[in-house]
Amino acid sequence: MSSWGYRHLIRPLLFQFQPETMHTAAMTLSRMAGRPPLNWLTRSLFGTHDTKHAVTVFRLTFPNRIGLAAGFDKDGTAWRGLANLGFGHLEIGTVTPRPQSGNPKPRNFRLPIQNALINRMGFPGVGAEAVLKNLPAPGAPRKFVLGINIGKNKTTPLEAAADDYTSLVKSFAPVADYLAVNISSPNTEGLRRLQGRNFLDELLRAIISTRDAESVRLNRRLPLLVKLAPDLTDAELDDALSVMLDRGVDGVIATNTTIGRAGVENDPGSNETGGLSGRPLREHATRMIEKIVARSQERLPVIGVGGIDSVESAQEKLDAGAALIQVYTGLIYQGPGLIKRLVSGVN
Ligand SMILES: Cc1cc2nc3c(=O)[nH]c(=O)nc-3n(C[C@H](O)[C@H](O)[C@H](O)COP(=O)(O)O)c2cc1C
Repeated sequence: MSSWGYRHLIRPLLFQFQPETMHTAAMTLSRMAGRPPLNWLTRSLFGTHDTKHAVTVFRLTFPNRIGLAAGFDKDGTAWRGLANLGFGHLEIGTVTPRPQSGNPKPRNFRLPIQNALINRMGFPGVGAEAVLKNLPAPGAPRKFVLGINIGKNKTTPLEAAADDYTSLVKSFAPVADYLAVNISSPNTEGLRRLQGRNFLDELLRAIISTRDAESVRLNRRLPLLVKLAPDLTDAELDDALSVMLDRGVDGVIATNTTIGRAGVENDPGSNETGGLSGRPLREHATRMIEKIVARSQERLPVIGVGGIDSVESAQEKLDAGAALIQVYTGLIYQGPGLIKRLVSGVN
């Protein structure tokens, strides 16, 4: 399906529905794309077999630089089909230790003129034990890198957050290629305070020591990444980076959604509470990547995410210093053909 075809024929139909209804339909289709007979069709339409795009980051080999951002497949039910769409990596989650329902619906809103979304999902999900059953078996051959994005339950107080994260590290270490610590979602009260120096230092101390023990037990490196908010001040970013470097974090995902409303002030949908993603986040996320690369003196590889919906916007993130990139909102507005265009279009 060409970009024109998706935007002018498919998207107007899909956008008749509530965003979350459409997402449920997209997940059903993604699951179908992982099973016969649609799996081979999906692979032949969207897949890329070329090995020339492979890159090594965090000492992991990625088939290409393009990944699916967290939040799309929260429970890991559609990884087969999503992999067939050509992604080099999939980030499943955010997974919490125990199941939870998230915020009341509606909790996801389109701002179509801006090519943006606002969401306040609040980590709905089936919980770690059920997600584990959905994932590929540990050690099974795969053509994509599997990241698991982990977060705390809503009811876990911040002071006990480390228990949630360390239990998730133990659960997912055998199956994940990397783990992403989500402390930047705006939709779980207080979560972003974990990015502050004291909380972060204590949290990372616990997480990294659990990660190290698991790495020894499994005899395998397990890169640990931290996903940051775009709304940190320069001083807050410096603090977070210095703690991450001290504690031995392997990389950064920049960025999560923003609580800012720059660029969408006049849109009636902008009044909704939640995190803004898509085109209005693009430049802000790119500036964050540049800062992280400069301030960490290139010691922390970055996965760039925020407003990527074209080869040009993807290249902008790579030029800012990102080693890999991820998409979410761009996929909703441009359709699944975006992935293949990005894989072959970026340098
Ligand atoms: C509906 C929705 C749900 C999301 N859920 C999560 C999540 O569970 N965990 C997370 O780390 N990021 C989540 N995100 C943030 C995305 O992973 C990404 O960081 C952000 O949307 C910016 O990228 P984009 O502009 O390409 O969408 C979510 C985003 C959207 C739109």
